[in-house]
Amino acid sequence: MSRRILFFFGPPASGKGTQAEKLAEQLGLPAISTGDLLRRNNQLAGEYKAAMNEGQLVADEVINDLLVNRLNQADAQKGFILDGYPRTKTQFEYFYNNIIKPEDKACAIEISVSEPEVYNRLAGRRFCPQCGAGYHLIYKPSQQLGLCDKCQTPLEQRPDDTEEIIKERLGLYQRTMGPLVALWWQMGELVIIKGEKEIEQVNNDILESLEEDGFLKLKPEII
Ligand code: AP5
Repeated sequence: MSRRILFFFGPPASGKGTQAEKLAEQLGLPAISTGDLLRRNNQLAGEYKAAMNEGQLVADEVINDLLVNRLNQADAQKGFILDGYPRTKTQFEYFYNNIIKPEDKACAIEISVSEPEVYNRLAGRRFCPQCGAGYHLIYKPSQQLGLCDKCQTPLEQRPDDTEEIIKERLGLYQRTMGPLVALWWQMGELVIIKGEKEIEQVNNDILESLEEDGFLKLKPEII
């Protein structure tokens, strides 16, 4: 069976998670964020807390294992949307050597945003520690202030959303993603979307690009 695979990547706060969640509902595919998988796994969240809180990457083998376990679940068999993976050349090679099959259709979507916008967004970001849903105090407020719309859990601020750590995460992103972007470009699987627009507009732009690319026509029965 041919699977549809979308990769979302971009600097911190570019809207990868927000757009991956929307696409997941629209395409009937699961959105899988390696950051969320780590945060919601008590053992790994404890073990790699320091690396995550300091904006450093977690070891490739840990991330690859975590991803493979998640992809084995029933909801990921028709395809999936990856948010924040791969982030290193080792992860990229692991995925293309071990997970992707020749019949799969893949597309990598880069969401581009400027540095000032990254700081602006992360100051207002809140997330649900129970179900992982993401919010923003101004751009995507929850219905009841401070509570998750889906499970009513009190919302929290991420410990890595401080100015110092955001700078670290941005620098790391710029150093590590360049080679991967070049590889996706060579493979003809790269789409670049401008992320500094309303959330709905960014979503429309992504859907239009996927339509043009023929990605949405592949499996019309699950759209
Ligand atoms: P991860 O959770 O992936 O963090 P990140 O890459 O820094 O990305 P963010 O989650 O901060 O941003 P986003 O682009 O998803 O933005 P969002 O949609 O939330 O990773 C965290 C850590 O885990 C890493 O530092 C590392 O330690 C580890 N890790 C994870 N994956 C790994 C891997 N593969 N390898 C190794 N280590 C790994 O939006 C941000 C805010 O802006 C929200 O409040 C949102 O509501 C708002 N917003 C979104 N879109 C818009 C818009 N268009 N207009 C206005 N506001 C918007």
